[in-house]
Amino acid sequence: MNESPLAGKTAVVTGAGRGIGKSIALTFARTGADLAICARSKLEIAETGSAVELLGRRCHASSVDLANPEQVEAFCHAVLREFGGVDILVNNAGAYIERGAFADSDPELWWRTVEVNLRGPYLLTRKLIEAIRPGGKIINLTSGKGFSAGADSTAYHVSKAALNMMTEGLANELWPRQIDVNSLVPGPTATLTNAGPSQKCSPEAILAAGRDALPKGLPAWERVKHPDEVADLALQLASYPVGGPTGQIFSLARRPL
Ligand SMILES: NC(=O)c1ccc[n+]([C@@H]2O[C@H](COP(=O)([O-])OP(=O)(O)OC[C@H]3O[C@@H](n4cnc5c(N)ncnc54)[C@H](OP(=O)(O)O)[C@@H]3O)[C@@H](O)[C@H]2O)c1
Repeated sequence: MNESPLAGKTAVVTGAGRGIGKSIALTFARTGADLAICARSKLEIAETGSAVELLGRRCHASSVDLANPEQVEAFCHAVLREFGGVDILVNNAGAYIERGAFADSDPELWWRTVEVNLRGPYLLTRKLIEAIRPGGKIINLTSGKGFSAGADSTAYHVSKAALNMMTEGLANELWPRQIDVNSLVPGPTATLTNAGPSQKCSPEAILAAGRDALPKGLPAWERVKHPDEVADLALQLASYPVGGPTGQIFSLARRPL
């Protein structure tokens, strides 16, 4: 088995300060990639950056708010200046900040969710697209909620459904350049708690706390996974040779989407 399938590759991962994005960044570094990563929290993104460098890889780590177009543009310029080109782009960062019922929702938070989850990936991908090399991969982290919404949190559902459509459209546009574009649906992962996305708890602590600590409404047969399991699927998608799947939805959920 090739232990370093990403050797010589440059990967950009958004939202790599914690959670799934951090696991993806570290998994990619362990398997040979150099990294460009971002998130808002300076401390968290610097910690991930140091961990990548400890693994012997180059890392550009920036504090970036994906809802801010100027910051997205500056990050892309820095990535291109430092690495010249990109092989893998993972649009992972996501906001789940407006959880109310439609009528009670805060319009500012509703729209900000769309800015982070949809406009951010759009601007970032658009800016980097010409620099993605043949054989490149774009992986968009979406959600089962982009397929079957349930009540409340419509901004999240709408933004993830739209991101799936961005995957499809980009896959149709980029196949002549041998660039594959896929969506990855993690299913419930140990970054979520009843209080919302975790700022403090490690995945291990969340898993140890058991199902009661998790968002309600998961079917009994659904399993909450460690973010490293999601990173393994991201690695598989990033490692396909030219001619691999494109325009697809890869899900780790244990229920129909
Ligand atoms: N966990 C799950 O069960 C689950 C299920 C389905 C889909 N997903 C999707 O998987 C992705 C990762 O989720 P996660 O659970 O790992 O989330 P998380 O633990 O909350 O981490 C999210 C990361 O994104 C960054 N981020 C958030 N807002 C940002 C912004 N405005 N600009 C730049 N970075 C920002 C966060 O850092 P800062 O806050 O410092 O910016 C953090 O590094 C998301 O797209 C999420 O929707 C997760």
